[in-house]
Order: sequence, then C-alpha cells, then structure tokens
Amino acid sequence: GFDIGKLRAETGLVTLDSGYGNTAAYKSAITYLDGEGGILRYRGYPIEQLAEHGTFLETAYLLIHGELPTVDQQAAFKDEVTRHTLLHEDVKRFYDGFPRDAHPMAMLSSVVSALSTFYQDSHNPFDEEQRHLSTIRLLAKLPTIAAYAYKKAVGHPVVYPRNDLGYVENFLRMTFSVPAAEFELDPVVVNALDKLLILHADHEQNCSTSTVRLVGSSQANMFASISAGINALWGPLHGGANQSVLEMLQGIQASGSDVDTFIRKVKDKEDGVKLMGFGHRVYKNFDPRAKIIKSAAHDVLSALGKSDELLDIALRLEEHALSDDYFVERKLYPNVDFYTGLIYRAMGFPNSMFTVLFALGRLPGWIAQWHEMIKEPGSRIGRPRQIYTGVVERDYVPIESR
Ligand code: ACO
Repeated sequence: GFDIGKLRAETGLVTLDSGYGNTAAYKSAITYLDGEGGILRYRGYPIEQLAEHGTFLETAYLLIHGELPTVDQQAAFKDEVTRHTLLHEDVKRFYDGFPRDAHPMAMLSSVVSALSTFYQDSHNPFDEEQRHLSTIRLLAKLPTIAAYAYKKAVGHPVVYPRNDLGYVENFLRMTFSVPAAEFELDPVVVNALDKLLILHADHEQNCSTSTVRLVGSSQANMFASISAGINALWGPLHGGANQSVLEMLQGIQASGSDVDTFIRKVKDKEDGVKLMGFGHRVYKNFDPRAKIIKSAAHDVLSALGKSDELLDIALRLEEHALSDDYFVERKLYPNVDFYTGLIYRAMGFPNSMFTVLFALGRLPGWIAQWHEMIKEPGSRIGRPRQIYTGVVERDYVPIESR
C-alpha cells in the first residue's frame, strides 16, 4: 500500500488539510456515521432504536464497553455510578470563588479539571483499575457539577444527590429542587432529557472528541483530557450552537419576527451572520438526530402544555431555508442543535445551561474514545504538521536600530 510517512521522509512533502476535512486521524470501532445517507449508529445500533428503547446509562455502557449490558451488568453499572455522585465538600468552595454570572461551561471544565487534584492516583492512564474508577467518577459527578453550576447562577443552596433516583431524575432534582421543599419530577421531562442525552452521546471525531483524544495522546489523565473536550464543545460552531440558536430566535422575535430579512442577512453574509443550528461538516442530506429532535420538540411542548412563538419562528426559518438555493446548493440542513434549545427552554433551563446539557450527553462518547485511544497498540502522540509561511531567516536587530 501507499505509505505517506515514507513519501514524506523521502520528499519532505506534507499534506495540508484545513479543518481536517479529509484526514482520518484514528481508527475507531465506536460510532458509524454515513453523512450522505444520514445514518448514525453506536457500536452498530441505529440511533433511532437506542433513542426509542434504550436509556442513557445503558447507552453509556454500550459506548464504553462495546456491548449492551445484561440485566446484571446494567444493575452493577448503575449501582456503581450512583455511589459516586457526591462531590468532595472542598469542591463546593470552587463555586464560591466564581463570579455569580460565570458561564456554566467555564465552571464545568474548571471543576472537571480540578477533579484530577482530588484523585491523584488516577494520573497514570495505563492503570486499568484507575481508568475504570475515573470513568465511573466522571459519569457520576458531571451531573452534580452541572447542577451546582446552575445553583451558583441562581444563587440557591446546592441540593445533594439522592441515590435512589435514576441518573436523569437525580440531575433534574439537584438542578430544580430547593432543599427541604417538596419536588415532583415530571416524567415527560425525565423521558425527553434521557432521550436527548442518548442522541448526543457520541459523534465520532467531532471537534471536542478529537480534542479529548489529542490531549489524551500525550498520556494526560482522563479528567484533564475531558476538561479540554468540554472547552472545545463550548464554541458556537460546535456544542455552543444550541445556545446561539436560541439567542438567534430571540433576536428575530425582538426585531418583529421578520424571518425574510434574517435569511437575506445570512445569504449576504452580513457581519458574518449564520443560520445557527444549520449545516454540518459530515451530514449533507439531513442530520438523523435533528429529525428525531424536531418531533420531540412538538411532543414535549404539547405534553407540557406550553406553546412557544420561538418554535414557530424556527419552523418558518427551516421551511424558508430548505427551499432557498443558497442553503440547497451548500447542502445546509438543520443539525442536532436547531431544536434542542426549545426543548431545554420548555423544561425550564436558561440559555446558558444548554451546552452543559450537551456535555452531559457527550461524556460517555468522550470516555469511550479516550479508552480506545489509550488501549490502541502503538498509539502515538497526536502531532499535526504545518506549512510554514513566515520569514525564513533574518538577523537579530538591536532595539535601538528598529
Ligand atoms: N449559515 C449560513 N451559511 C453557512 C452555514 C450556516 N449555518 N454553514 C455553512 N455555511 C456556508 C459557508 O458560509 C460556506 O459558504 P461559501 O461556500 O459561500 O463560503 C459553505 O456553507 C460551506 O461551509 P463551511 O463553513 O465550509 O462548512 P464547515 O464544514 O467548515 O462547517 C459548521 C460546518 C461549522 C457546522 C457550519 O455549517 C456552521 O458554522 N454552522 C452553524 C453553527 C452550528 O450550527 N454548529 C453546530 C454544528 S453540529 C454540532 O457541533 C453539534
């Protein structure tokens, strides 16, 4: 076969692939994605089936271990995750130090990174037992960390995890309940959030997952690698798009709901305005997650008895874009983020928490990919090349002569 490494050694040539549009950096057996066909499968299982019949914890197990759990495996996994939900009391003091209006994604990545100061035995990525413990700790603690970030923003006391509840129920209770007050979970919300987390659980080599793998390839520990992934997810071109979509819809609403003017601005690339929640590097026909989420948005809003003018604006934007040459020629379709914000909003989450919910969902994927990377025989440090465009050589000029 063709050996690009040999060619480089002989000729000094490197390939330039901006945005890695055509470069596979890894082999992976976790997620199958066919962008032309709109197909997404975790370990071979279609995303539609997992979203309909599975649970988020079951999906996490599947991604990390490669197989769906048996009844016993599932019970043991849930039991283990449940037992690690508490945060060390000292972690609470981190939140005291953050400004009240701190973005929850910044708190999330900081606290996840700080976990590596509490679990110093976990720093060797080749220690299998510690790898397992870090996996469980991250899955168990991220909802607690996320709920504390929300509590910080609203100025309420934290609510400790309750281990008799399911994963999503526990998170919702820690987020929305107040200590010592009655709190009832709405099964519609629990069910919808569980499904949304499943739909976000992995997406092969996206920006945040590649970041996790790249940081991990230096043999940095799992907490450090995943904290980096959370920061990569935050950007508006990636997971931050769910927050940007809602802000875009609110902006259109504030300007009198004029969808046509907004679409024209996008097409004219006025001030770099984009139709947020549209377009994808890999999907060129439709995003299968967006399809499921669009109908979930209708279902959840009507089950919660809520109507939202922003949903009407979103539907009009989509309809307009799908029949416009600009979007058709560029194969721009709604992605996973286009409708999620509307559901999160109906559930009671503020805009700033949307990307945090994405991170909760993506966590098992990051973990699974980190494990796969560390266990790959002969895995090397990630180290892209560059095409140097600067001055080749010049002599130092003393400051008084410049
Ligand atoms: N609105 C308007 N125009 C767009 C959009 C959009 N949302 N997305 C792409 N385009 C245009 C580009 O301007 C470009 O046009 P040109 O050929 O005239 O220059 C063309 O479509 C190709 O776009 P690229 O930027 O080359 O596509 P790329 O694959 O690099 O980017 C991305 C993909 C980042 C998702 C992009 O479509 C985008 O910015 N979308 C909006 C943000 C968003 O929704 N991100 C979430 C992605 S899904 C996820 O991470 C969960």
